[in-house]
Amino acid sequence: MYNEMENDILKVLFSQEDIARRVAEMGTELAERFQGKKPLFLGVLKGCFVFMSDLVRACPIKSDLEFIAVSSYGNATSSSGRVQITHDVQQDITGRDLIIVEDILDSGNTLYYLLDVLKLRKAASIRICTLLDKPERRAKPIQADYTGFVVPDAFVVGYGLDYNQQYRNLPYIGVLKEEVYR
Ligand code: IMP
Ligand code: MG
Repeated sequence: MYNEMENDILKVLFSQEDIARRVAEMGTELAERFQGKKPLFLGVLKGCFVFMSDLVRACPIKSDLEFIAVSSYGNATSSSGRVQITHDVQQDITGRDLIIVEDILDSGNTLYYLLDVLKLRKAASIRICTLLDKPERRAKPIQADYTGFVVPDAFVVGYGLDYNQQYRNLPYIGVLKEEVYR
């Protein structure tokens, strides 16, 4: 069937198969690291939703999951330093081993703020697992512990990542044509 989103994609960076392979590897690695620890996967909405669902199914250990939603005031293609929690976790995270699940680590503003908040809640450990890392744009000293793919400084969509809330349902990750957001 004709895909009306396809016209807006400059090029595919990671195919559905590339992503599936990498997410399977990440799930296995997390399972080895967190075996017996019952970690709490903490997904950052909304971008995490596709990655998170594949990741937890690729990680065959006892665990549970929560979601947190943050809004950051910026423009459509970049975040600012001002971040606010709009949906919070539904349980006490004291003493838990957290795995933060992000779609993309860009400036680092969002996670920098989130880590600050979560540290106050006395988790036993906090690790960052991001599908994509765009290190060229980093403004805060934040590093992921687990990274799916490193991407160049371009605006990417698909597999949960959006532009203006669209393209999250593309099964692959592609670079959005500049004319779409100019
Ligand atoms: P940061 O606070 O700049 O690290 O940005 C984190 C959030 O910005 C991500 O969770 C995404 O929602 C969004 N973001 C950053 N870069 C991109 C991109 O290339 N495509 C889609 N969303 C992005
Ligand atoms: Mg987003």
